[in-house]
Amino acid sequence: MTGSDMGPAECGPMAVSIGINITDVQMNTATYFSLPQTNIWVCRDDKGVYAMDAECTHLGCPAKPHALSDPDPSLDPMIGTPVSGLSSGFKCNCHGATYDPNGQNPTAPAPAPLNHYLVCTTLSGIIYVDPGQVVDPSIRYHV
Ligand code: FES
Repeated sequence: MTGSDMGPAECGPMAVSIGINITDVQMNTATYFSLPQTNIWVCRDDKGVYAMDAECTHLGCPAKPHALSDPDPSLDPMIGTPVSGLSSGFKCNCHGATYDPNGQNPTAPAPAPLNHYLVCTTLSGIIYVDPGQVVDPSIRYHV
């Protein structure tokens, strides 16, 4: 998988619409969504849009943007509400693991980075995320 501007045909049967348009994802934000299979962040950095697992690889608590002033580890983030400050990275408040803005370079006790998933859109730009297709963390959907 090397491309990034994938049409809906590239997404598989597990793909789920998150109900927003790709052009509505603002720079340096992370927005939380709950899929049937997992919870994700949809993010946009200066290279484009990506979808990343929101469940900490230690024991599955939500990994939240540092910028989110929500220290309660038991609370899930607000679904569909963009959090600005993506560039400060993510933290899991259960046991203190951190990740960079791309979900990489986990600190203890997280054993692994956060998975990235394939992002597709309809012709009109509605985002689908396919949690059945893990992609390289460098892949972006170019907006
Ligand atoms: S569940 Fe995230 S650090 Fe333990």
